[in-house]
Amino acid sequence: MSLSQSPRLPAVSDRMLRVGTESAFEVAARARALQAQGRSIVHLEIGEPDFDSPVAAREAAKAAIDAGMTHYAPFAGIPELRAAVRDDVALRKGVDARVEDVFITIGGKGVMVYAIMALIDPGDEVIVPDPAYPIYDSITRFCGGTPVAIPLRAEDGFELDPDRVAAAITPRTKMLVLNSPANPTGGVLGRPALERLAALAVEHGLVVLADEIYGRILYDGAEHVSIATLPGMAERTVILDGFAKTFAMTGWRLGYAVVPPWLSPHMGRLIINTISCAPTFVQVGAVEALRGPQDEVDAMVAEFSARRSLVIDGLNAIPGLSVSPPKGAFYAFPDVSGTGLTGPEFAERLLLEAGVCVLSGRAFGAAADKHIRISYATSRENLTEALRRIEAFVRGL
Ligand SMILES: Cc1ncc(COP(=O)(O)O)c(C=O)c1O
Repeated sequence: MSLSQSPRLPAVSDRMLRVGTESAFEVAARARALQAQGRSIVHLEIGEPDFDSPVAAREAAKAAIDAGMTHYAPFAGIPELRAAVRDDVALRKGVDARVEDVFITIGGKGVMVYAIMALIDPGDEVIVPDPAYPIYDSITRFCGGTPVAIPLRAEDGFELDPDRVAAAITPRTKMLVLNSPANPTGGVLGRPALERLAALAVEHGLVVLADEIYGRILYDGAEHVSIATLPGMAERTVILDGFAKTFAMTGWRLGYAVVPPWLSPHMGRLIINTISCAPTFVQVGAVEALRGPQDEVDAMVAEFSARRSLVIDGLNAIPGLSVSPPKGAFYAFPDVSGTGLTGPEFAERLLLEAGVCVLSGRAFGAAADKHIRISYATSRENLTEALRRIEAFVRGL
């Protein structure tokens, strides 16, 4: 009898049977295992800038360790970082928040987990775009809630259609999740759509979880509008943002929430129950990321813009693939159905037969079966080699 069959071991909780995953991490582990066997793999699966974190942040974090800032921080974050976030959201998002409503978390992911845990009871419905970052759906199910998927269409630039949202609202709807610029599509919600979504949230008493983690990674003059700035929205929006994408600080694991005052005590209590606080010296470094020179961010976004052109032109030159330029973030989301393969088939065979690791659109929801996601947060050299391999793979089908 294997260990897992032993009658003396307890079963995991029911909620563990409902929780999903983020397959980027699992796919990356599989690709690395193939690499360990001697295969050459180009990695386009993880959404992680390949740049160094800002010099000022690194220096400040190192100095903070040497200065003994290696103890617990206040649960909501060090005052200097909460104030820096408050100032930054005022400057860049036009959101006028109280410092008491700013919470420093472990990753932006922490914010989505806390917001959903704080608000969703069994039976509550959460409207989620499809395709979308998979953790909104997963944590909603974990909490016993029901995710209600709204399909996004390539022909709409993957913008969430307010009419479809209106049609999906029921008396059980409690939350609407927005992610702009979006993972995995690069879609950006324009002001007219946001105004209509805000009006729906106010009319139906919904909370909006506004995932703005790619808010500074925009192209061709696209504008980032925070829904929290629209009438009636400050008291019903949880802003999720962080340091991972903007500042190439993924491994620092630092994010933040700006929440309505009525939610603040609950956010604080969830942080105390789970992490106690984010690491102190990491927060000291993050103050410099926000307050220090921003030229490294600007240079990174300029480089993403060049890579975006390389990838979009390269993909569109391959028969059977079609993709529109994303307006933000650093993902291309091509339709591969012209090759005769589904997204999952394409991703699987591309890895095994051509040594290029991408994600299937299916990893982000049922509506994206025809797509794959390519992260272009990697060097032009890697991207050029990946395009060469993808073209050879498609021509050989
Ligand atoms: C849309 C979206 N939100 C949140 C996150 C989580 O970011 P963090 O690394 O700060 O937890 C990611 C990471 O890929 C993301 O794509």
